[in-house]
Formats: sequence, structure tokens, C-alpha cells
Amino acid sequence: MLKVINVVGARPNFMKVAPIVDAMKRREREFAPLVVHTGQHYDEMMSDAFLRDLDLPEPNVYLGVGSGSHAAQTAAVMQKFEPVVLQEKPDWVLVVGDVNSTLACALVCVKLGMKVGHVEAGLRSHDRAMPEEINRLLTDQIADRLFTPSRDADDNLRGEGIPEDRICFVGNVMIDSLLNQLKHARSSTIRAQLGVADSDYAVLTLHRPSNVDERGTFSRILDALEKIARRLPIIFPVHPRTRKTIAELGLTDRVQRMNGLRLLEPLGYLDFLRLFSGARVVLTDSGGLQEETTALGIPCLTLRESTERPITVELGTNVVVGSDPQRISTAALAALDRPRANNTPRVPPLWDGHAADRILDVLAATHR
Ligand code: UD1
Repeated sequence: MLKVINVVGARPNFMKVAPIVDAMKRREREFAPLVVHTGQHYDEMMSDAFLRDLDLPEPNVYLGVGSGSHAAQTAAVMQKFEPVVLQEKPDWVLVVGDVNSTLACALVCVKLGMKVGHVEAGLRSHDRAMPEEINRLLTDQIADRLFTPSRDADDNLRGEGIPEDRICFVGNVMIDSLLNQLKHARSSTIRAQLGVADSDYAVLTLHRPSNVDERGTFSRILDALEKIARRLPIIFPVHPRTRKTIAELGLTDRVQRMNGLRLLEPLGYLDFLRLFSGARVVLTDSGGLQEETTALGIPCLTLRESTERPITVELGTNVVVGSDPQRISTAALAALDRPRANNTPRVPPLWDGHAADRILDVLAATHR
């Protein structure tokens, strides 16, 4: 029986950990899972709503670290996670994605000589100004097993000198959640509540510091949105960080007066899945949403200069457009002019709903 601590911290972690914990519960003779929540995200709609929607058990341990500078947040996670690992003595610790909690917990484990696996390893934007890129690079250097979602990630790791026996191509756990939850999402009433019908709206998410922390860049993005909103309504569930910067940058009036831009509180997993899966086009700076739209064949414009998920551009519907208003609006209008029937999903290898089981197979094999 393998005792495994599964770490969650921020919103994009929950949908990656849920299928892993679920698979461990199904294989109860082989695995005893524990869930540790660092509390990096703590608002009801950034955390608890996801635990409920994804059927994740209440975390066994809640560290309650909250917000802070990168140094303060990372250090707080490390200080609070260390005694938990020392007490529980797990066989494995699994960390997912690229948030501060991921690196902090991996670092604690490697210093204690505990085995740590990184799920969604090997992705690289090659932009070291992104805090997530630093988290990915360092976590991959120190973790014992690197579970990759795509072959380009394997190549990145090899290029960094990681030995072959640490790299395990297992596919995409986030797509496990997506496929599991699609049928449940159909019961969401979010479209009726908003009064929108299939395919007659766009969905926007924006929270990267490079887009929302500086007035000039944020204003240029709003210029593009103004043009697009003349064609169709844009539904915008606003991340708490973005809500804060809109106010701090003095953009509240402009955003509220913009015709066709509808601001919402952050949505839970099922409502959001229901919403974006019916969108005509998605505009985003999120990493995960580039993958989810690829799996469903929804046109996606990525408002960043680079992507760590190139497979969504090669095989999927993703176009990287940066923050230049002309590029954003031209690409959006082109997507709107294309017949929807052309947006067929081309699902990358092993994005098949079984990535979690492949991770468990690898863990089990290390203890035979
Ligand atoms: C974090 C991740 C990012 C991920 C994003 C998804 C890092 C470095 N960044 O960014 O990779 O894409 O989560 O959401 O780990 N806040 C709240 N309530 C919350 C959480 C945050 O109000 O529950 C506000 C606080 O003002 C906080 C700010 O959002 O200071 C930023 O939160 P933080 O966890 O530092 O980073 P995110 O921008 O959420």
C-alpha cells in the first residue's frame, strides 16, 4: 500500500488532482491518498466551489498560507508543509502544475529525501519573466518522476539534461477531469441565467501580471475588446487579482461602461465548463484553458507573447496573439467569420481521460 500526499494550492490545481485522487480511491488496495491544501487560494469561488464540483474530499490538512509576495508565500508553504511530511512519512508526494505551492512543496520533499512526482512536467514558455516558468524549471530539476502531458514536454526535459528514466509520458490529467465532468456540466443553468444561447457569445479570462498589472497594456487589451464586443457579447468572469488591479489602475469606469462586456464573479468548475464549451470564441491568458478549448474544438486566442503548450497551436484551435489590440481584434473577427463546423477537435495523444491511471501505474511499479 502506497501512502501518497496530493498537494493542491491554487485554482488550476484542483482539476488536475481530482482524477488522481479518484483513481487512488478506486485502487484502494494499492493506494492510501491524502490531500494537503496549502491555502494559496482561499476565496469560496477560487477553492471550495472546485472541491465540491470535482467531488474532491475535504483536504486532510489545510495549511492556510493565503496571499503574499512570491517569497513570503513560497516560504510560508515550505514552513507549514515540512512538519506535515515529517509526520505522515508518505511514500510519494505529488505536486501538479506550476504555481508557487508546487515548487515550495517539491523543495521541502527533496531536502528531506522524500520522493516527489511532478504532474504536468516539462512545459516551457521560455519566458523567465513568468513566475510559473521559474516554478516549472526548478520543480522539474528536483522531482524524482516527471509526468508529462505531451511529447514536446519530454523533449524540453531531455534538452535540460534530465535522465530518461525520470520522464514518464502519461497524457493530460486536466482532460481526465474535463471528460469526466462534461455530462454533469450539462445540468448547469449558467447560460440561462446570463440569457445567452449556444455560440452567440465570447468568453474572456485575464489574470496574468503581464496583462493586468500595468495600465498601458490593460488599456490596449480593452481597446481590442471594444471592437470585438460590437460583434457579440463578451462574458468575463473576473479573477480576484484582476478585480483588484482594475480598481487600482483607475479602469473601473471604462470597464463598467463598455457595451457588451459583462463582468461576473469567478465561476465554479461546472458552470465555467458549461459556459466556455458553448462559446463562439475564447480569449484568455490562462494555460489550462488553451488545453480545454483544444480538447473541445473551441477557437481560442491566447493573449500572451508565448505559450508553454505549443501542441494546442499545432493540433488544436489555439492562436497566440499577444496583447497588441490590432492582432487581437483581427484574429477574433477571423475566428467569428469562420464557419463553426470547421472547429473540429483534434485531440493530442493520450488526452483520453486515462492519464491519472497511467500515473498510478508508474508509482505502483516503483514499489514492486
Ligand atoms: C496563481 C498562479 C498562476 C495561476 C493562477 C490561477 C503563482 C505564481 N501563480 O496566480 O500560475 O494561473 O493562480 O488563478 O502561483 N486572491 C484573492 N483570493 C484568492 C486568491 C487570490 O483575492 O483566493 C488575490 C489576492 O489579492 C492575491 C492575488 O489574488 O494577492 C494573487 O494571488 P496569487 O495566488 O499570488 O496569484 P494568482 O494571480 O492567483
